[in-house]
Amino acid sequence: MTDSTAGVKSSTDKVAVVIGSTRPTRICPEIAAWIRDVLQEGSPLQYELLDLAEQKLPLLDEPLKAALRQYQHDHTKRWSRTVDFYSGFLFVLPQYNWGYPAALKNALDYLYHEWSGKPAAVATYGTRGGGKGAAQLLQVLQGLHMRAVDDHLELVVTDADVDENWQLIDVGVTLRPYREQVRGIDQQLVEAIKDDQL
Ligand SMILES: Cc1cc2nc3c(=O)[nH]c(=O)nc-3n(C[C@H](O)[C@H](O)[C@H](O)COP(=O)(O)O)c2cc1C
Repeated sequence: MTDSTAGVKSSTDKVAVVIGSTRPTRICPEIAAWIRDVLQEGSPLQYELLDLAEQKLPLLDEPLKAALRQYQHDHTKRWSRTVDFYSGFLFVLPQYNWGYPAALKNALDYLYHEWSGKPAAVATYGTRGGGKGAAQLLQVLQGLHMRAVDDHLELVVTDADVDENWQLIDVGVTLRPYREQVRGIDQQLVEAIKDDQL
């Protein structure tokens, strides 16, 4: 164990790599899986994919605000347990119309204490990297009192990266330029989670 990993409980600290697009033809799972694999390389953290589409959350239907933590619905209780389980989060999402996906905002709004205080990182993608979506999400994460790491990823995915069905031709080729930045995000999450345990 190196100095930078001291304090992280090897294999017990799990970080969710959240798949933030729920469209049926989305490219997000492939991008998130590539990022997860690069994050995992030599990391003391355990990175796991967390697919928002599989949560099947309806539009927010809890009668009471999340801060009260009095949930009525089973889907909320299940989502609460899932988010509680993770020590940190990397949100992977496309920019939609200069913002970020409504499904992600909905999933965030379902809970409050479960997010609060936890380290968070953001990876957006779009023809110019999705920086406007990243900025909006980072502001919301601040409102939830999450601790965003210093850097975020803006991944440029253009028409040249996708085929006639708008699917990625080769995710490794498209994302290769970002390898070192992704490794840097792992280091920042390691440090942030280590700080939690001091
Ligand atoms: C509702 C919607 C809005 C979009 N808005 C943007 C945008 O603001 N900037 C951008 O670069 N691409 C935009 N796109 C193109 C997406 O980057 C592209 O469709 C990408 O595949 C979306 O990710 P996903 O397939 O994982 O959902 C938009 C796509 C959709 C469906």
